[in-house]
Amino acid sequence: MYLTRLIYASSKTEHCTDKGIEGILAAAERNNPKYGLTGVLCFNRKHFLQCLEGPRDPINTLYQRISSDSRHSRVTLVEYCATEQRFFDQWAMKYVPDSKKMQTLAFRYSDCNDFDPYRMSAASALAFLQAVSSQ
Ligand SMILES: Cc1cc2nc3c(=O)[nH]c(=O)nc-3n(C[C@H](O)[C@H](O)[C@H](O)COP(=O)(O)O)c2cc1C
Repeated sequence: MYLTRLIYASSKTEHCTDKGIEGILAAAERNNPKYGLTGVLCFNRKHFLQCLEGPRDPINTLYQRISSDSRHSRVTLVEYCATEQRFFDQWAMKYVPDSKKMQTLAFRYSDCNDFDPYRMSAASALAFLQAVSSQ
């Protein structure tokens, strides 16, 4: 099945507590390896930017489930494409919380100072996620 990459942006809702974030990460650790999915989830306490990569069918199924999750809203597809390679293959779901580095990189890869994934192109979002998840 074709290797696929999906990137979306979304916004945290009031239903999403710290426990909610822990639940998301636990679900990713539990489920993603079963389906050969890898990726990164970036969260600045306001917005999410997530990249999922792996076989097409499980990506589609998981995205439908994620889209209807009440912990976030305004779920907006940024990129969906077939790809030759994974960029986050070491992680079932690498979690990147808010940091100074995130803000610096948000400025580099978008037109504003704050991390606002709705204002990133698909190419910028991928480059941002690669940079922010590297050491
Ligand atoms: C921003 C966000 C990212 C999520 N990422 C994943 C993920 O990578 N993998 C996953 O299984 N669930 C993820 N979820 C949770 C799913 O919406 C869903 O609650 C979960 O897959 C249910 O898993 P379970 O049937 O094992 O309880 C995410 C939810 C949100 C709000």
